[in-house]
Amino acid sequence: MTDIWSPFTLGGITLPHRLAMAPMTRSRAKPDGTPGDLAPEYYAQRASLGLLISKGTQPSEDGQGYLATPGIYTDEHVAGWRKVTDAVHAADGRLFIQLMHVGRRSHPDNTPHHNQPVAPSAIASGKAMFTMSGMQPVPQPRALQKEEIQQTIADFAYAAKRAIEAGADGVEIHGANGYLVHQFLAPDSNHRTDEYGGTMERRARFAIDVVRAVVDAVGPQKTAIRLSPGVATGGIAEGQDNDELYRYLAVKLGKMGLAYIHVLYTRTDLFLEDMRRSFGGPLILNRPGRSREQIGADVAEGLADIEALGVMALANPDLVRRLKTGATLNDPKPALFYAGGGAEGYTDYPVIDAA
Ligand SMILES: Cc1cc2nc3c(=O)[nH]c(=O)nc-3n(C[C@H](O)[C@H](O)[C@H](O)COP(=O)(O)O)c2cc1C
Repeated sequence: MTDIWSPFTLGGITLPHRLAMAPMTRSRAKPDGTPGDLAPEYYAQRASLGLLISKGTQPSEDGQGYLATPGIYTDEHVAGWRKVTDAVHAADGRLFIQLMHVGRRSHPDNTPHHNQPVAPSAIASGKAMFTMSGMQPVPQPRALQKEEIQQTIADFAYAAKRAIEAGADGVEIHGANGYLVHQFLAPDSNHRTDEYGGTMERRARFAIDVVRAVVDAVGPQKTAIRLSPGVATGGIAEGQDNDELYRYLAVKLGKMGLAYIHVLYTRTDLFLEDMRRSFGGPLILNRPGRSREQIGADVAEGLADIEALGVMALANPDLVRRLKTGATLNDPKPALFYAGGGAEGYTDYPVIDAA
């Protein structure tokens, strides 16, 4: 049985244990997409987690969907992220930046160019989005032209390069939770009839092309992807019908020698084992809503190499110490998860000594 507190090597870096912080959008970036002034402190506070995965970060203006999310495609973004990675490394931590292109889950009020959102097909998600004027339904997207798909792939590769230039230990492509990559994978959001739609091989092509472009830009050891097989979200309800595609994708990704795949899994069946076998490399698992008692079980049972925790890590900067010592955990403050700007609910969660 593998112990959650045993070290693990991934992407050429040795992690002191097998807990990671899941990516979490906090909507506290500056208006130009540079990480906010408190971001270095926020991540450094949590550096005792073996691996930190950053908030979703857009690779381009088109990629932004939420209010005040950071980017990683301008010199200012790179300088801002450099402060974050320096702070994390000074605290002995490691950070992968998550590259998140939201595709159709965008609202023009939240993007710098205010353009209509883009997607594989002109199919709205039917969901709402928080903007400066409150919740608003997201508009119908327009389908990406073929040349624009190539540009979007290039944008991911460029953003990955800039992330490494900013000192990140790697990048995690967001292929989960109903965002652009997932919109290509799922049949209900992808009605294309060209080589990026239709059969499962064609629906998987965008994900594979993005990963390959990022691998070419920064190397396989600094490249990872997050997937959520069968998770119904953002207007996507692929269920288990898409398992064959995920198996195919996992085999393809496995051949590329990536740092890891990060699987967000809400199912109780054994498909996860299938994914793990098909990929063959390091697997990070995030099961939403895990209790303290459940932490370590998936690693112990050999279902995953690393377990990622979201809200618990958000609310407990010293989560590792608390888990190891049996100290009580802070209660999260959901009303402040995305609340713009301040330290409250961001960098002011107490550590044990002050709790
Ligand atoms: C405030 C908040 C923001 C999130 N933002 C992202 C994100 O940017 N990218 C992503 O892949 N998942 C995001 N998630 C999902 C988490 O990574 C994770 O899957 C989820 O919180 C379930 O895990 P947990 O129960 O351990 O928190 C977010 C979750 C929360 C609570």
